[in-house]
Amino acid sequence: NPGPDYQAEDATLSQASVAANHAGFTGSGFVDYVNVAGGYVEWTVTAATAGAHNLTLRYANGTTANRPLAVAVNGVTVNRDFPGTGAWSTWADVTLTATLNAGANTVRATATAATGGPNLDKLTV
Ligand code: GCU
Ligand code: CA
Repeated sequence: NPGPDYQAEDATLSQASVAANHAGFTGSGFVDYVNVAGGYVEWTVTAATAGAHNLTLRYANGTTANRPLAVAVNGVTVNRDFPGTGAWSTWADVTLTATLNAGANTVRATATAATGGPNLDKLTV
């Protein structure tokens, strides 16, 4: 996935807020989920071609516990683990493959554990 980048801080947020208090993010900040299940980050992403695309989420998790997300792409959900990265300022990538439509697509990443999601920096398609 050569890009483009979709910054988390530019997405639609629910039970999550923009922060910049840990180094290493791209853009102007990152998204910090509230520590509850159900918070989400939702992007509209544009694909030139229909079919399978890689979606890469850049995240940090300064705890030692998984912070799973349910990633819904045009309503089709896949669950992914976001294990600890060692520090809130250490960022890692999780990539999944999803079917995109040519044109606009909705990608929503919802926290499924009571601890909330990891900190999210961006989505690259
Ligand atoms: C800390 C950290 C936040 C993080 C939060 C959490 O408060 O500074 O960036 O989101 O822990 O546990 O979710
Ligand atoms: Ca948080």
